Amino acid sequence: MTDGIHGRHIRPDEGPLLRRLRLAALADSPAAFWQTLEAARAQPTAEWARRAEAGADSPAELVAIVERAGEAVGMVQGFTPTGRPWLRELGAMWIAPAARGTGAADVLLATALGWAGRAGAEAVKLWVAPANRPARRLYIRHGFVVLSGPRPVTDDPSVKTFIPMLRPLYPARAHGHR
Ligand SMILES: CC(C)(COP(=O)(O)OP(=O)(O)OC[C@H]1O[C@@H](n2cnc3c(N)ncnc32)[C@H](O)[C@@H]1OP(=O)(O)O)[C@@H](O)C(=O)NCCC(=O)NCCS
Repeated sequence: MTDGIHGRHIRPDEGPLLRRLRLAALADSPAAFWQTLEAARAQPTAEWARRAEAGADSPAELVAIVERAGEAVGMVQGFTPTGRPWLRELGAMWIAPAARGTGAADVLLATALGWAGRAGAEAVKLWVAPANRPARRLYIRHGFVVLSGPRPVTDDPSVKTFIPMLRPLYPARAHGHR
């Protein structure tokens, strides 16, 4: 059931909400993300404000949230990787534990995929921790495919490894037609 669940872009003045959701996500699920709670806590207020402004209404950058009964219960971010205008990448996807299994994740992901499609992207990429079964199953259900085995997300080899997944956005070609 997705009754009372609503996905939307963040508003430009909702930097404090973004900070609250992101810190809650990092405190709740540190293994799911490459950023640490410590690093996120150290970010200045102006940086959260900048992200909310940039992610509110742009084809290049997104912050989407999902609400249940009017309360924000999850978030996801989207951006355009440098030099790849046809691609959008998602990250920081999180649903508050009390809202898991309610359809909120589906609504949130659909909001992000809708944004990428309207932006004219050809595909959406994301990275998922190998042991994160709920996330992997959610992404597979939404048409993502595994691109390779686990890889470090940054150049630092001590950093956690994640599995890249891709979701094509163009319509599948009908069989028998060329
Ligand atoms: C990943 C996340 C966003 C999914 O949200 P959700 O509300 O749990 O999503 P769903 O209810 O669609 O459940 C996802 C799948 O995981 C399954 N699942 C739920 N809990 C599970 C568990 N403990 N172990 C294994 N599978 C589980 C569900 O049955 C579902 O699989 P199905 O499609 O085969 O039924 C949410 O769990 C979350 O925020 N986790 C912590 C942060 C995180 O991992 N973010 C993703 C970073 S890539």
